Amino acid sequence: MVDTLAGFLKIARAEVDDALNRYLPAPPTCPEIVSEAMRYSVFAGGKRLRPILALAAADAVDRSPAGLRHADAMQRFTPAMELALPAACAIEMIHTYSLIHDDLPAMDNDTLRRGQPTLHVKFGDGIAILAGDGLHAEAFTLLAREPIGPDADIADRKLRVIRLVAEAAGAAGMVGGQTIDLQAAGQAGPRTIVLDRDGLRAMHARKTGALIRAAAVSGAIMAGAPDGLVGAVDRYATDLGLAFQIVDDILDVEGSAEQLGKTTGKDAAGSKPTYPALFGLEESHRLASECAVRAHRTLQDAQLTSGHLGAIADWVVSRRN
Ligand code: IPE
Ligand code: IPE
Ligand code: MG
Ligand code: MG
Ligand code: MG
Repeated sequence: MVDTLAGFLKIARAEVDDALNRYLPAPPTCPEIVSEAMRYSVFAGGKRLRPILALAAADAVDRSPAGLRHADAMQRFTPAMELALPAACAIEMIHTYSLIHDDLPAMDNDTLRRGQPTLHVKFGDGIAILAGDGLHAEAFTLLAREPIGPDADIADRKLRVIRLVAEAAGAAGMVGGQTIDLQAAGQAGPRTIVLDRDGLRAMHARKTGALIRAAAVSGAIMAGAPDGLVGAVDRYATDLGLAFQIVDDILDVEGSAEQLGKTTGKDAAGSKPTYPALFGLEESHRLASECAVRAHRTLQDAQLTSGHLGAIADWVVSRRN
């Protein structure tokens, strides 16, 4: 039985890595160097939180007999998870592009990512920018193409997912959040801004929360969830996304490069707007736990407690990498 989070993570990560390997373009479809660069970053060793979330949401909302066994030993990767797999992978491509660009000298200027030298250190800034652009476009090619089939209902779900992923990735979502981050850190020329409590939460909701929400909601939509359940998954993922970025901020202070695979202490050095900077570490921990409590309550109210979403909320808050 895949009844523990560890078992689910193992299966989900293997399926996602396999699918990403199939989906990413290779020569002669594209020049060798951009294919190598995209694969270097995608397979450098990320946690795969977003695709895992998409698959877990698809499983949690699935009311079919296969889903009711919750991806058990009889059918470990259920048809609902199969339907969500392309969206899961597309969002991991967009997330990886956002990391490549986030690390560039013009943004956070980081040299270590996923335990490896950052892409621009390895391939130069130009190829890193293009590999990010390529992953971004490839994600939408994949969303439009798969799952393949003539079913009008699936085509309708795909269209809804394309729209919500585009909004989450764009200026209203991740790009908007990254913009506010640069402005608050004094990296946008004279247009510096100061964030208060609400401003910081809103920035985190955009820069990290938007794609995390899109991942969970895409999984629920692709699995055919009714609107009520999609809404509950969205509320759960909103709290999860905020908890995730608060913990990311905390780990930049409390973690180590060996654990995290990225350089620590960068936020304070770059005057970045973070929860520890505004609230201190103790209150930041409390606020992250509060998000997880709210996420659990949402799952209970929507009767979504029998899948892996609850355990994912606990993992996000207690993680050390
Ligand atoms: C890091 O995300 C960047 C943020 C949005 C906080 P992750 O911590 O999920 O990075 P990977 O995918 O595991 O490398
Ligand atoms: C980045 O936030 C969020 C993205 C959209 C990539 P951070 O700048 O805090 O992410 P890390 O700490 O470099 O992974
Ligand atoms: Mg950043
Ligand atoms: Mg960064
Ligand atoms: Mg960070």
